[in-house]
Amino acid sequence: MSKTFYITTPIYYVNARPHIGHAYTTIACDTIARRQRMMGFDTYFLTGTDEHGQKIERAAQAAGKTPQQLTTEVSAEFRALWDRLGLTYDDFIRTTSERHKQGVQALWRKIRDNGHIYKGHYTGQYCVFDELYVDAVGPGAPCPECGRPTETVREENYFFKLSAFQDRLLRLYTEQPDFIRPEARRNEVISFVRSGLRDLSISRSTFSWGIPVPDDPKHVIYVWLDALANYITALGYGSDNTGLFDKFWPANLQMIGKEIVRFHCVYWPAFLMVAGLPLPQRILAHGWLLFEENKMSKSRGNIVRAETIVDVLGADALRYFLLREVVFGQDGSFSFDALVQRYNADLANGLGNLASRTLTMITRYFRGEVPYPSRASSRKASDDAIAQTASKLINEYNSLFEDRQFSRALEAAWGLVANVDKYIVENEPWALGEKQDEDSRARLATVLYTCAEALRIVTALAHPVIPEATARIWGQLGLGEIKKHPLADLRWGQLRLGTKLGKIEPVFPRADKSAIEKMQTAEDQGRSAAAAATQDAPSVAPIAIQAVGPPAASATTPDGRISIDDFAKVELRVGQVKIAEKVKGADKLLRLEVDLGTEMRQVVAGIAEAYTPESLIGRKVVIVANLAPRKLRGLESNGMIVAASPEGGKPVLCSFLEDVPVGTRLK
Ligand code: ME8
Ligand code: MG
Repeated sequence: MSKTFYITTPIYYVNARPHIGHAYTTIACDTIARRQRMMGFDTYFLTGTDEHGQKIERAAQAAGKTPQQLTTEVSAEFRALWDRLGLTYDDFIRTTSERHKQGVQALWRKIRDNGHIYKGHYTGQYCVFDELYVDAVGPGAPCPECGRPTETVREENYFFKLSAFQDRLLRLYTEQPDFIRPEARRNEVISFVRSGLRDLSISRSTFSWGIPVPDDPKHVIYVWLDALANYITALGYGSDNTGLFDKFWPANLQMIGKEIVRFHCVYWPAFLMVAGLPLPQRILAHGWLLFEENKMSKSRGNIVRAETIVDVLGADALRYFLLREVVFGQDGSFSFDALVQRYNADLANGLGNLASRTLTMITRYFRGEVPYPSRASSRKASDDAIAQTASKLINEYNSLFEDRQFSRALEAAWGLVANVDKYIVENEPWALGEKQDEDSRARLATVLYTCAEALRIVTALAHPVIPEATARIWGQLGLGEIKKHPLADLRWGQLRLGTKLGKIEPVFPRADKSAIEKMQTAEDQGRSAAAAATQDAPSVAPIAIQAVGPPAASATTPDGRISIDDFAKVELRVGQVKIAEKVKGADKLLRLEVDLGTEMRQVVAGIAEAYTPESLIGRKVVIVANLAPRKLRGLESNGMIVAASPEGGKPVLCSFLEDVPVGTRLK
């Protein structure tokens, strides 16, 4: 029986389109899965979508769709993107699927029958964005995790006896010190659990988009209990007996972003303990991809889509960049500039150039057959140095990779590429190639063999990271199917004499400045299309992504007037007030939730002295929709309401005599 390896990504919410933040986690898992397969593990790689809960229900409402429609559409987009990126997931779980529903209900029953669920009343604050019960006081109090206003929940709920797990969890973190990685996250969790655990409300009864509680269908199961269970329901837990669960559970590696550590390292192991199931070996949390200093997120609107990069530079470029540039575990910035720079330096000029130089010379001087360093007299110390560096690299790369230090592993591998480049310059194979004497021929054979063998080793090691290009280089080296190559056996000197090269073609064409512009334009267009399409709710951009390069001309005219382009930058839209309430402790402020046709926006406006909250509900207003968010009294205001503001008088809201559809742009 072969060794098994089970790896999972979080399942992504379908309230908005996928972006490279989601791609980051999924690509990192894909890389590990590919490598495990090359290492001979029977590997199972799971990803999927998280489709229940209030947040999704509201996103559907805002988009004028049923939750089923929205979730099916967006889930399909995630899946299509992963396919386009060539990700090798073995299963894609949707939480709206029947097998998942059965599995979650089975898990609920198990927890209930083991005496860990009771009914009680919950009164407190809930953050819909994080789908999290929070310790905050008073209506609208900001969520301690994300700062968004929380909502008051007053319901009869089912509770899970989380408080009973403090000791057992602390013991788990001690006895299995690698359960949470990296260390910083582990320490966070330990201090959170040490500070005491309260029982967790695990059902809701005031909305219905979820999995019904067994034997009490007025309640739906808390979306995080539902979502976490995906890791076992996908293997057939509680639904069928395909043998996958027995074969693959517990997971070897569950990768997540750092913001969902508590759910995975506290709630999840507690649920599993009650259900009598083994715990995953490791929860690995990575940092955030930032765009201009902020976490890239659909709600902020500062996202970059993977498609944009794939269209211009290919999937390998994105994969390489994310794993090479971001120190895994820490936050890392994304920019098109840095992406193109990395691509050119490491892929086009680095590996790509090494492959094409080496293979072209073998074709030219040895009729496309790998020569062999046959004579001892044709060797030099520099050849052995390359061989030694390569052998050392194999071990170093493997251990860095096992430790998930992707950027250092790649840095080490590209160190060999740089050494070989230098070696080529020093040995001038093109000069040797001009000579016909036996010594020169033997020397040339040695040099080109050394280059080709180093190329083969870097290519094999890099395959899980940049699968497309390395498969092509492998083919050009005349070596068959790279993913079948047993990575554990990789050694210097395996390239055989006389191996017939394949057709030589460049794998990484150089990118010029226009690549950056192309990607930038694609993103800008994607964004305005999203703003125009009503179904595209949350990807409207409140923060415009700054153009790379010189800013567009926006000088004022000599008499102080602005150009039409300047005016066009201000996105004014018709919205309709859906919710209005006073802000505690602020006499002038109202908190509004405004329907913009494509999304709901929270706006905090200084109009409380002029309007009562009730008088505003249903009223159409004009919103500056692309204003950077700011905080007022701890509440994030995402836009500004337009009003005539007489000096010393009360503001008067801008409105229309004719009826104007919500979302219409003013220009
Ligand atoms: O939290 N940088 O779903 P989600 C890095 N459904 N990673 C990012 C990222 C960024 N800027 N943005 C997103 C949920 N991610 C729940 C999970 S699991 C049982 C339920 C990645 O759509 C990262 O992996 O908010 C993060 O944890 C995940 O997407 C959150 O996706
Ligand atoms: Mg999130």
